[in-house]
Amino acid sequence: MPANRFNGHTDYGIGIGLRIPHYEHILTRKPVVDWFEIISENYMIDGGRPLAVLDSILEQYRVVQHGVSMYFGSAQPLNREHLKRLKTLVRRTGTPWLSDHLCWGSVDGRYTHDLLPIPYTWEAVHATAEKVRQVQDYLEIPVAVENVSSYAEFHDSEMTEWEFLTEVVERADCGILLDVNNIYVSAFNHEFDARVYLDHIPAERVAQIHIAGHSRYRKYILDTHDHAVIDPVWELYARAIRRCGPTATLLEWDDKIPSFEEVHGEALKANRFLREVAAQAAEDGNIRTDESGRRQWPAEVAHELLA
Ligand SMILES: [Fe+2]
Repeated sequence: MPANRFNGHTDYGIGIGLRIPHYEHILTRKPVVDWFEIISENYMIDGGRPLAVLDSILEQYRVVQHGVSMYFGSAQPLNREHLKRLKTLVRRTGTPWLSDHLCWGSVDGRYTHDLLPIPYTWEAVHATAEKVRQVQDYLEIPVAVENVSSYAEFHDSEMTEWEFLTEVVERADCGILLDVNNIYVSAFNHEFDARVYLDHIPAERVAQIHIAGHSRYRKYILDTHDHAVIDPVWELYARAIRRCGPTATLLEWDDKIPSFEEVHGEALKANRFLREVAAQAAEDGNIRTDESGRRQWPAEVAHELLA
């Protein structure tokens, strides 16, 4: 699979989310971490401690921005003021790509602060893709849209979630932030096969992967990000990287946050799978390196590994 502006970040390795309880540890102990993901909205401010911390982090680490309030699937126009502030932060962090969710969450200027599922219709495909395209053009960096976990479906839907995701990203010409835990959660809640989802998305557009823990109840799963990752999600992750190649991977842990070491240790478990897949491909002589030193991951390798 040739490198492109979405999948070319194969050297990013494993990152973790920058969270307030870990600020002190990171600033004083300077742990070795491949990169940090920040929630853009927490730093779209004019000054204060969060920005000072961010600047210190930027001196030593790579930072990638992740957003929670773009609402690509909302019917209302984009918030120009929000975009302006976001672009200021993009320039500050130098983020190589930026992600936000494939969802809606605002009506008439009122924000729900929830990541609500979109009806998978052609009308929504066109409206959502147009918005992603506008954001990408304005920010002048690659945008990756993230699949959300959901607890409801729409009778009006005209296609599956993975078909909807594919149609949006192809029309918007954007990347994907593939959240394998969200696929697992939605697959359980809506009774579809998570492996079919993974096998049908355009692998060459996957810029980043999210992994996370969740809470399981008798009839449904809640995407709580407050546990370690369970084995079936690791299996999905392994399947994803066999298909997509070595991909920037981030562990999300947002509630009941344990020590930095515990979160980082959990994230580093992803290394085992990244190494296994890379070793297998290298053994087969299938990894190539381009002029900039980035590893290339031919599509035929992914297919062989999956077979
Ligand atoms: Fe996620």
